[in-house]
Amino acid sequence: MMEISSVTKVFGKLKVLDRVSFNVENSEVIGYVGLNGAGKTTTIRIAVGVLPPTEGDVLIDGYSVAKDKRRASALVGWVPELPIFEQDFRALDYFTYLAGYYGIPRGEARRLGRELLSELGLGDAMNRKLAEFSQGMKKRFALAVSMINDPPNFIMDEVLNGLDPQGIAFFRELALKFKKEGKAVLFSSHILSEVEGIADRVVFIHKGKIIGEYSMDEIKSATKPALEIVLSNNVDDRALDKLRKYGEVARKNEKTVLLYGDFTDISEIISSLASIDAGVSEIRRVERSLEEFFFELIERAG
Ligand SMILES: Nc1ncnc2c1ncn2[C@@H]1O[C@H](COP(=O)(O)OP(=O)(O)OP(=O)(O)O)[C@@H](O)[C@H]1O
Ligand SMILES: [Mg+2]
Repeated sequence: MMEISSVTKVFGKLKVLDRVSFNVENSEVIGYVGLNGAGKTTTIRIAVGVLPPTEGDVLIDGYSVAKDKRRASALVGWVPELPIFEQDFRALDYFTYLAGYYGIPRGEARRLGRELLSELGLGDAMNRKLAEFSQGMKKRFALAVSMINDPPNFIMDEVLNGLDPQGIAFFRELALKFKKEGKAVLFSSHILSEVEGIADRVVFIHKGKIIGEYSMDEIKSATKPALEIVLSNNVDDRALDKLRKYGEVARKNEKTVLLYGDFTDISEIISSLASIDAGVSEIRRVERSLEEFFFELIERAG
């Protein structure tokens, strides 16, 4: 479990994080979504212990990153935004070298390296130089490295960037596996639709502040297609009862009601309302995209 607790970061005069707080529970996959420059990477660097916070703290399974950095960092696997490797090394050799830091003996490290690199689709490339790796291959390699000591928590910065559709599908499976194993997973992205199907919950950050936290289910129900029906008179219980026959109903304001569903024929709905003398003055299909949901949050936050 990871607890980000009132983290503030100031660079010079610029406050880039302002009391950022949220938790990542065990068996939970969280998408950390924000525009370029919102503060995702800064939060992540603080959480993995490579950047000190100005104020606040992060607890990794109860260990404070500020006070007990070694223990806290050992409990989290990190995939950096732009992984930097010794370019001259061959992938498996470099993996073995890094595994040495975790006290894994050489033979065991090579066996683990072969296993993880194959699992990540780099089986044919494990004896190639890292300098020859494409962006997506580097991300896959960084993922393998983050898994060396099988940590109970993962933080991945823009891990989907540079992955092809096969890579994204693979990451989805991997996240699901981590979840089943009870691990806590946080991954950042600037595209909400990219985290759909992977994240259980989404934490939104904008200009260094958390502007919302929603389950993926909440986001989906807020973005599903609906008919927006404006009545000539105020919406009353009789009108709501009529509409409930066609689907889930939500009252938007005095005269407007949302009827969820993907309706092709709306004439029946209009005549059913007419049968109780509820005149329809406007009707239109509405569907918010995931990105519209995100932008509305940003607009509300100002
Ligand atoms: N070392 C630094 N010194 C000064 N400002 C910094 C430093 N690192 C980051 N910043 C600033 O902090 C803000 C947040 O940057 P950060 O990298 O956390 O954003 P991000 O959400 O990861 O963006 P992206 O989607 O582009 O990766 C930006 O305004 C950036 O310029
Ligand atoms: Mg970033």
